Amino acid sequence: MKKSIYPYEEWKIRENAFDINMNYRNETIFSLGNGYFGMRGTFEEGYTGPDDTTFNATYINGFYEVYDIKYTEGGYGFPSYGEAMVNVADSKIIKLFIDNEPFDILKGNLILYERVLDMKEGFTERKLLWETETGKRIEIIVRRLISFKRQHLGVIVFLFKPINFSGNVKLISEIDGNINYRNESEDVRVGSNMQGKVMETLESQVDSYLGWIMQSTKRSKLKYVCSFNHEIKTKNQFKFVNYRYEDKVGIEFNIDARKGETFELTKYISYYTSRECAEDCIIDEALKEVENAKRIGVDIIFKEQSDYLNEFWADADVVIDGDISLQQGIRYNEFQLLQSVSKNDITNICAKGLTGEGYEGHYFWDSDIYIMPFFLYTKPEIAKNFVMFRYNLLDAARKRAKELGYKGALYPWRTIDGPECSSYFPAGTAQYHINSDIVLSIKKYVEATLDYDFLFKYGAEVVFETARLWISIGSYIPLKNNKFCINCVTGPDEYTALVDNNAYTNYMAQMNLEYAYFVAKEMIKKAPDDYKRISEKISLSDDELEEWNIAAQNMYLPYSAELNIIPQDDSFLYKEKLNVKDLESEKPLLLHRHYLNIYRYQICKQPDVLLLMYLRRELFSIDEIKRNYDYYEPITTHDSSLSPAIFSILANEVGYYEKAYDYFMMTARMDLDDYNGNVKDGIHTACMAGAWSAIINGFGGMMTYPDGLHFMPNIPVGWRLLSYNVKYKNCKLHVDITQDKISFLLIDGAEMRIYLYDEEILLSNGLKVEKEVKKLEEQRY
Ligand code: BGC
Repeated sequence: MKKSIYPYEEWKIRENAFDINMNYRNETIFSLGNGYFGMRGTFEEGYTGPDDTTFNATYINGFYEVYDIKYTEGGYGFPSYGEAMVNVADSKIIKLFIDNEPFDILKGNLILYERVLDMKEGFTERKLLWETETGKRIEIIVRRLISFKRQHLGVIVFLFKPINFSGNVKLISEIDGNINYRNESEDVRVGSNMQGKVMETLESQVDSYLGWIMQSTKRSKLKYVCSFNHEIKTKNQFKFVNYRYEDKVGIEFNIDARKGETFELTKYISYYTSRECAEDCIIDEALKEVENAKRIGVDIIFKEQSDYLNEFWADADVVIDGDISLQQGIRYNEFQLLQSVSKNDITNICAKGLTGEGYEGHYFWDSDIYIMPFFLYTKPEIAKNFVMFRYNLLDAARKRAKELGYKGALYPWRTIDGPECSSYFPAGTAQYHINSDIVLSIKKYVEATLDYDFLFKYGAEVVFETARLWISIGSYIPLKNNKFCINCVTGPDEYTALVDNNAYTNYMAQMNLEYAYFVAKEMIKKAPDDYKRISEKISLSDDELEEWNIAAQNMYLPYSAELNIIPQDDSFLYKEKLNVKDLESEKPLLLHRHYLNIYRYQICKQPDVLLLMYLRRELFSIDEIKRNYDYYEPITTHDSSLSPAIFSILANEVGYYEKAYDYFMMTARMDLDDYNGNVKDGIHTACMAGAWSAIINGFGGMMTYPDGLHFMPNIPVGWRLLSYNVKYKNCKLHVDITQDKISFLLIDGAEMRIYLYDEEILLSNGLKVEKEVKKLEEQRY
C-alpha cells in the first residue's frame, strides 16, 4: 500500500502544507467540475514555479478543435482529422498585490497554508497566512465552487484581511483567453495534438462589475462565451477600473485596506457554448447566468450545492467501516465521477474527466463498460444520458461503416462528436467490440430501468445497426466447421492486435445479434408502430432478422481442449509467453517496446477473456473462471488502469481473497495515492468506476443476471460494515453487510425479488430482511 500524502478523513481531502513537488499532482486532485465544465486546482493568484510543476487549464466537456492527422504513409479509410478538447479561457484569475508586491506563495513568507476539498459541501477552500518580503502579513481565504445544479456557473469567494498593516491592496480579477499550447509529449495519456494558440477572440466587453469574452476555435468553428460578474463586501474604501486587451477583460480594484478589516470579492463565472445554445444567444445566456447568480447570492448557491450532494450521497454513498483510507478513496472516486460526467446527452465522460487533456478529452468504451454501471445502479437518470449519447452518434457511426465498406453502424474507438479520431487502426478502428459494448450497456440499462420507451424509440435502432455490422464483417468458414467467424479484429487487450476470432469480440457480437433479434421480435409484438418506423427508416427486412439469429447460433466460440481454457483468439496460444515478473523495468510496455515486439508474445495489457467472463458472468462456472484466471493473470501487465478492478472482482469469485484485496487497493486510491505516477495529467475515470464495481460486485457480491440481482457477499476481514444502495427496476435497495450478516431494506418500490446464494427472497417495502453470511469455504466449494 502506498503512503497517502493526505490525512485519512471520511469526507475531505486535505493538503496541510504547500509542497512544490506535489503541486502538479494536487492541481488534478483538487480540480473541480460539474460535468459541463471543469477547472484544474491551479491558484487564482497564478503560479511562478517551473513549468514542469504545473498545468493550468479549464475545460468545457465536448468543446473541441479539429486538427489534421498527418500520415506519411496513409491508407484508405484512415481518419483525416481528429478532435481535441481545448483549454478555454482562464476565468479564475484573482491577483493580489500589497504595495505592488504580488502575492505569490513561492515568494515572501508562507506562514500557514491549507487546502481542503469538501466532498459533502462540494467546494474547495484554501486558507493562507502570508507575509510580504517587508513583513506585511495578510490572511487569505479562497473558496471555489462549480455548481452541479447550475451547469454553467462557477463561483469564487476571495477574502483577505491585513493582519499587521493598513495600506494599499490591489486585486485584479480577470478572464484570460490567451491560451497557448506547450504540450509536446508523445505519450497519448499526457497531452493533445494542439499546438500554439487555437482560439481567437471574436468580441469582448467589460463594464463595471460585468464582463465577457467570446472566442471561437479556428477550424471546428465552435464558439463559447465566458462571462464574469462581481460582488464586494467590505467596510474598506476602494475604487475600481476596467480594462480590456486583445484576449483579456479585467477589473482592477484599488483598496484602502485597514488592518483587521476584511475585503470579500465574489466572482461569478459562466461558460456557454454554441454546442448547446444558438450562436446569437450565447452572450445573453452567459450574462444572464452571472447576473442571476449575483441576485440569488452566494449563500444560496453554496446551499444548493450541498443539497445536490446530499441527494447524490443518499443514493451513491458506499460506507466502509473499518478502513478509513478506503472510505476516503471510494468517496473521492465517486465524487470525481460525478464531477466528470455530463448531465446532457450530446456529451459524455472523458477518460480523464475534465482534469487534463490526455486522450484529448475523448470518450471511449470506458464509458459504456466501466463507468455506466456506477451511474446505472445509483443515478439511472444520468445513465440514460450515456445510452442517448450513443444514439446521438448513430449517424456518424453509419457513415463510418459505409466508409469501410460495411453495412450498419461502426462506432468510433475514440471520439468527441462522432468521427473516429484514432489514427492507429490496429488498436483503434479494429476494436470493433465497441459496437457490442454499447449494446451491452443498452441491454443492461433497459433491464435495470425498464425504460422500454427509450429502447423502442432510440435504443433499438442502435442495436439493429450494430448487429448489421457483425453480419458484414463475419463469415461462415468451412475449415472452422462452417461456424460464423469474425476475423482481423482487436479485442480489449491492446497488446494483441488484428487477430482472428477474438473470444471477447465473438461472444459479445453473439450477444449483440441475439439481442437485436429479441428486440425486433418484441417490438413486432409490443411496439409495432415503432418497429415499422425504424425498419422503414433503415430498410430492415425480415430476412435480416433471421440472418442475425442464425449467425448468433452459429457463432464460433473459441475453446482450447488442450488447456481447458478460452484462448484469447485463434493465434494467441501459439505465441511465446512473456512473464510479467520479468518485465518490471519495462512497464508500461507501450512506452518501452515497439508494438511489433509486443504483439508477437502472449502478454496482455488488460483483461480480455477475463473481462468477458465478468461481463457475461451467467455463461461461466466458477471453475472455468478459475482456470482462465490462472492462465491469464501471470501474463497481464495491468498497464491499463482499467485492469485491476476486473481482476479484483474475479479473484473474489474464485476464492483468491488476498489478491482480490490487493488488486482492489490498486484501484481504490489509484489517483489519491498516485499509483501510476501520472495523476498530474488527470484522473482515471474508468478506474474510479471500476473501484466501485470491485466493491459492489466483488466484495458486496452483487451480480446483475438477466433474472435480477444476485448476492454472494464476502467482505475483507478488517471491514466491520460495508453498506451501499442500488437502484434497480424503479426500486431502491439498501444493503448492509457485516462479517456475519447481510441485511436488505427496500427503500423505494413495493416489492423486489432478489437472490442470496441462489435462494429467492421477496422483499417488501420497509421490512428489513436479515440473513447469515456464509463462511467463505462453504460458500464457494
Ligand atoms: C486502454 C483502453 C482505454 C483507454 C482510455 C487505454 O490504455 O488500453 O482500453 O479505453 O486507455 O482509457
